[in-house]
Amino acid sequence: MNQSMWALRLHERGGPERLAYEQAPRPYLGTGDALVRVHAASFTPTELTWEPTWVDHAGHDRRPVIPAHEVSGVVEALGYGAIGVAVGEAVYGLTDWHRDGAAAEYVAVEARNLASKPPSLSHVEAAAVPLAGLTAWQALFDHGGLVAGQEVLIHGAGGGVGVFAIQLARGAGAEVIGTGRAWAREVVGALDAARFIDVESERFEDVVGRVDLVFDLVGGEARERSWSVLKPGGVLVSVVEDPNESAQARRIDARGIFFVVEAYRGELVELAKRVEAGQLQPIVGEVLPLARGHDAFHRKHAGGIRGKAVLQVDDT
Ligand SMILES: NC(=O)c1ccc[n+]([C@@H]2O[C@H](COP(=O)([O-])OP(=O)(O)OC[C@H]3O[C@@H](n4cnc5c(N)ncnc54)[C@H](OP(=O)(O)O)[C@@H]3O)[C@@H](O)[C@H]2O)c1
Repeated sequence: MNQSMWALRLHERGGPERLAYEQAPRPYLGTGDALVRVHAASFTPTELTWEPTWVDHAGHDRRPVIPAHEVSGVVEALGYGAIGVAVGEAVYGLTDWHRDGAAAEYVAVEARNLASKPPSLSHVEAAAVPLAGLTAWQALFDHGGLVAGQEVLIHGAGGGVGVFAIQLARGAGAEVIGTGRAWAREVVGALDAARFIDVESERFEDVVGRVDLVFDLVGGEARERSWSVLKPGGVLVSVVEDPNESAQARRIDARGIFFVVEAYRGELVELAKRVEAGQLQPIVGEVLPLARGHDAFHRKHAGGIRGKAVLQVDDT
């Protein structure tokens, strides 16, 4: 068997300019791992700045590294103790940030981080779901405690995570207001958000009343200014930076939460059910072949891409 594969790798720390499309060794299977033949992979625009991209769980430098931790593909082999998926099964999931990702022909993934691919989705569509879908789910429900009848403000609503957050919040019976740059109006409107705020022409504090939950996908000033639109007892969930509860937050007894997304098979299964029920649709704004991964990272960084950018690895 050929023991090498095509992959996108970085040999030095840096941004997308360091990505090389080259031959790399196929991954070894560890205990509990599944070897997945990758059909499509996706990534988060900021992941090359995250420490786990560069070090293993023990903190050791693990360069050269393969990015992109969302995968859709077919299980090729199972390691000792891998359960819950079968050889030949089409799967999707989120791979460990401290290990090589899915911008390659093969990836070794803990089998518990995979679930059956939603059958109605292509591999390209399915690769757009795991990170964004799980992050939105965990922010709204696990951390934000969103329930029917509440109102949520989503900053960065037209991006990778935002488009899932809108759909999941609407599906749960919440009212949704989304912010974004002008280009995002169309995508947010098409997802049935109650309102879109164009941050290039409006200040959200001037048009939003008081909401139960703010989901921050932008950080910085937008996050800081968000305390003023929370109801007493409201929650500000950010996945960009720690919300540091301010004096204003304490006055209204609001809570700030930061978290890092976790791969849960149970939540991947729930996301797949909603896809199959027609309640959740991934938005793929850009598809490029693996060999052009460098361009995909650059273009997503430049901004203006609806939903996710996906790397197509194998279109069979
Ligand atoms: N902690 C975690 O576990 C976790 C998990 C997933 C994501 N994240 C982080 O969450 C953030 C969003 O991820 P993503 O994949 O959704 O990224 P994305 O696809 O780039 O989405 C972010 C969106 O926000 C828009 N935006 C930029 N500035 C804005 C502003 N001031 N007000 C409103 N919207 C603005 C962007 O528009 P343009 O494209 O025009 O710039 C883009 O549409 C990233 O920082 C990512 O690292 C963290």
